[in-house]
Amino acid sequence: MEAHIAPSLLAADFARLGEQAAAVHNADWLHVDVMDNHFVPNLTIGPQVVADLRRATGLPLDCHLMIDDPDRWAVGYAELGACNVTFHVEAAADPVATARALRAAGTLAGLAVKPGTPLEPYLEILPEFDTLLVMTVEPGFGGQDFIPGVLPKVTEARRRVESGHLKLIIEVDGGVNDETIEQAAAAGADMFVAGTAVFEADDPAGAVAALRAQAAAAQPPSGPSLRRDTDAHRPPGR
Ligand code: DX5
Ligand code: ZN
Repeated sequence: MEAHIAPSLLAADFARLGEQAAAVHNADWLHVDVMDNHFVPNLTIGPQVVADLRRATGLPLDCHLMIDDPDRWAVGYAELGACNVTFHVEAAADPVATARALRAAGTLAGLAVKPGTPLEPYLEILPEFDTLLVMTVEPGFGGQDFIPGVLPKVTEARRRVESGHLKLIIEVDGGVNDETIEQAAAAGADMFVAGTAVFEADDPAGAVAALRAQAAAAQPPSGPSLRRDTDAHRPPGR
């Protein structure tokens, strides 16, 4: 298992997104929070900004859709060149069809669950996905406190990956900082979204490197199945 960091642009200066992306040049993915004022009470970025970001940075774009009707809109973000498109299971009418459409469009497919959403009902559809995003705050806003009570979902997903039943990037999002990242890493996450902890640091690239090292040191040792499949777990660029 490796530790990957995805800085969230939600905590960046929206008047300078290109510069802010350049400030985290050493990140693994760049996390782009798309909100529609319906699924969550906040409005952020849409397709035009994602298209412009695609041209402005070489970082793989990790689009996190916090929108209603992702079945209709998700593929559009794949077509704009996102490397991973994650949508919320609570908002999707047909998550399997949407995941298949994303993969067919050449991107990774991600499933997100809010803190109060259990994983059990969706375990059987996880093979359709490349990424599982476990929200560690209520979606909608940055700067909230990490909710450790959701980590059993990370542990369960990691157990299934280790037993060879699944290949998944396990991503945590919300309140991830130098005080919380070790718990998430110990539970088995391998992709860490961090907004405030990166963009409010004096040295955002330094914060990315420090968080990555902290997470890597706290991750449990990988099982044999994971070691065999190392390449499958490396987040691809585009
Ligand atoms: C919240 C977003 C997160 C958010 C994380 O709805 O999905 O990506 O930007 O921000 P921090 O790291 O500040 O909690
Ligand atoms: Zn997010």
